[in-house]
This record gives sequence, C-alpha cells and structure tokens, in this order.
Amino acid sequence: MAAPKVVFFCRECGGEHPKWSGQCQHCGAWNTLDEAPAPVRGARRAATVRAAPVKLDQIDTADLPRLPTGSAELDRVLGGGLVPGSVVLIGGDPGIGKSTLLLQALHHLARTRPALYVTGEESLQQVAMRAERLDRRDGDLDLLAENNVERLLEAAAAGAPAVLVADSVQTLYSESVSSAPGSVTQVRDCAAQLVAHAKTNRCVVILVGHVTKEGNLAGPRVLEHMVDTVLYFEGDRSSRFRLVRAVKNRFGAVNEIGVFAMTDRGVRDVNNPSAIFLSRGGEPAPGSVAFATWEGTRPLLVEVQALVDSSSLANPRRLGLGIDQNRLGMLLAVLHRHAGYGLGDQDVFVNLVGGVRVTEPGVDLAVLLAVLSSLADRALPDDMVLFGEVGLSGELRPVQGALERLKEAQKLGFKRAIVPAANRTGTRALALEVNAVERLPEALAILGF
Ligand code: TYD
Ligand code: MG
Repeated sequence: MAAPKVVFFCRECGGEHPKWSGQCQHCGAWNTLDEAPAPVRGARRAATVRAAPVKLDQIDTADLPRLPTGSAELDRVLGGGLVPGSVVLIGGDPGIGKSTLLLQALHHLARTRPALYVTGEESLQQVAMRAERLDRRDGDLDLLAENNVERLLEAAAAGAPAVLVADSVQTLYSESVSSAPGSVTQVRDCAAQLVAHAKTNRCVVILVGHVTKEGNLAGPRVLEHMVDTVLYFEGDRSSRFRLVRAVKNRFGAVNEIGVFAMTDRGVRDVNNPSAIFLSRGGEPAPGSVAFATWEGTRPLLVEVQALVDSSSLANPRRLGLGIDQNRLGMLLAVLHRHAGYGLGDQDVFVNLVGGVRVTEPGVDLAVLLAVLSSLADRALPDDMVLFGEVGLSGELRPVQGALERLKEAQKLGFKRAIVPAANRTGTRALALEVNAVERLPEALAILGF
C-alpha cells in the first residue's frame, strides 16, 4: 500500500509545498512549514444531480434580506446588516473589543431569532460577567464553551441558530485533522466546516480571527478567500475610538468603516466621527491641517499633524503613522523638486490623529502642507480643508467623492478648501470657497508659501 501523501503548509500564508524546507517559497517566512495530509483534489462529487445553467435574466435579484445587528455602524460596515448564509471574518489585536462588539450584536439578534455564541477562549462565567458589565444578561442568547468543531456543529444542528459566532477560529480543532489547534490545517479545516454549515443552513457564521504582530490575520491567508466578508478592527488601544473596516465584502462597499467608542459599558456607535477626529480646540497650531477623506461610502474629516525638526542623523528620520511610509519619502522628494523646499537635514514625523489609517493617495496634499506648516512654524487657517493626490511631476490629481468630502467639511463649519482642478465640477453650489488648482506650487501660493 502506498504511504498516504503528505504536503507542507506555511503557517503564515498557507502556501503549499511538496517537500519540507526551512523557508516558505511563497512568503519567505522561516520555520513556518507544518506537515499535513495532502488535500483531495478534483471531483469527488456524486454525479447524480446534473448541473444546469440558468439564464442570467431569470435569476431572482430581489434585495437580499439583511439582519440588523442593533448597531448602525456595524450594519454600515457590513453593507446594511448581516446576510443569511454569509460568513464574516473579524480580526483585530487582542483586547481591542471583538468579543464585546459581537456579544452586543448577538444579544440584540437573539431577541428575534435563535443565536449561538461559541467561545473557545473564555469560560461561560467570563462571558456572563462581560454580559453583566454590558447590562445584557437578559434575553435568549445561547452560549457554548467548546473547542471541538464537530461538537460545535452538532449543537448548531440541534439549536438551528440564525446567527453563530465562533470566538475564535484559532481555538477550534477538528478530529479529522491531527495537527494542533491554531495550525494552518486546523484553522482551514474548521473554517471550511463552518462555511459549509453557513451555506447549507442559511445561517450567518461570524468567525473571530487573531492577528499577528504585523497586523495580518494569523494562520492562512486562505481564510480570507473562504469567507464573504473580512472586517478588521483598527485604531490604537490607548485611544477610546475603534474603527472597523471592511477589507473585503461580497455584500457591500470595500473600505467602508464603522466608528465606535469603547466605554466602560461596552462599545457604542459614534454617529458623528468627523467631529471627533477633528477635535482641534484652541488656537490653530503649526503643523496641523484638516483633511477630508472618503472611506467606502462615507466622508470623514481627519487632522493631519506633522513635525519637522533638524536632525542629528546622517539619514534623517521619516516616520508616518496612519499613512504609507514609502509615499511620505516620495512626497518629500516632490516638495524638494517642484517647490524648492529641501528637508534633507530634517527629521519628518507625520501622524493622523485618533489612530485613523488612510490608504488613499488623496491625503498627499494635506501631508505636504502639514509638513510645510511645521517647517515654517506657521499655522494654516483653521477653517481650511484639503485633499488631493500629488503626482511625481507636481501635478494635483483628482480623488473620488470630492463633492461628498466638501459637503462634510461644510457641515462641520469649514469655509475654504484647496482641491485638485479636476475635482472642480459641482463645487459652485457649495457655500465653501473652493480653490481648484492644477499644480502643487499653486496650492502653496494660496497659503503664502
Ligand atoms: P474584548 O472584547 O475582550 O477584546 P477582544 O475580544 O478583541 O480580545 O475587549 C476587552 C477590552 O475592552 C478590555 O481591555 C476591557 C475593555 N472593555 C471596556 O472598556 N468596556 C467594556 O464594557 C468591556 C466589556 C470591555
Ligand atoms: Mg475576545
């Protein structure tokens, strides 16, 4: 008899290798390969039911029914609530509030339909104590402390929940796999069983996932491919505010964010996030500008801060928190070449206030002006809002959702804006004074640089 085939999976990225090696060929991580039985490939499906194609125009596209979670912000990130039969993966640093948010949501859902919260990390008492703290001990929520995925699914089959939370997927194990809980093969197998359960029973399955110190989901990347929606908790734990971002969503806008505040009695929705991230009391300070961003389907105003200081290092420091580090270096080069401000002997630090992270290049103009304002030690007008991508030849490139950004700024009392020329359309109707500019030097000239 031939020996059973084994392959090796990388614990970090899930990459498959026919042979063991010290380094993963896919992601380059060292010592991350685990042995596992080779997955069965190809069709093992019974050929009794013939697959029949359906005409595109005959598919019912009536709006997907959504289950509201009781939190408008969470519903917003999900694209309007939970979709029956969908699988949501929610990741974030330990202690950021995943279990709290989900317990609250499930408590709400349990009022109208069966809901099951499975905890593999905490005891039932710990969960009950948290519920006590949240003032949510009442109601019909079913709890289960279980690590075995087969027994979990038995309980789910018996209780037929409409929503099931598995907190966390790394603590589950399946009897059919021999490796330890948390290993790639275990996580994959358990997730696959839960996904199958979701699809066959039209049950919403929410998986909680741990993240590594780099901020990626621990375990296989494949987890992200298996689920419909991936949400990440962002924001630093020292701040009260938490951002939940949809990095993948088959049922809603990607990059959508929900804003929450962690209080002593649970996670609360923040209905007016711009007002919070922009709380700039007092005199306008050098190095600070207001930036309007567009995340998913929502405009958001954030304060960009910069500090420029003479450096004693041969390679001055460039540090960007909440923005792309490489882009910061590029922007400083543009500032030098196209506006004549050299920062070769200066340390440059840039920070987005409130732990917000912006991935769009629309932040460029705000970063550059914050840097210049700090360099010149001159405060910019505090009723001015900025956005725009800066190209390598110093041109300002248009951004998405410019009108929405400007409207949000207007709502918050801003009087002036500098935007890329190509975003001028439709801005006449606004009460805001909009300066639409083609190139970076023009924008600087408006501010007297
Ligand atoms: P938790 O939901 O357990 O985090 P995770 O599941 O992501 O690891 O949140 C734990 C943190 O939140 C912990 O530091 C205590 C704090 N917390 C509050 O501030 N208020 C509350 O009402 C609760 C329940 C927790
Ligand atoms: Mg937890």
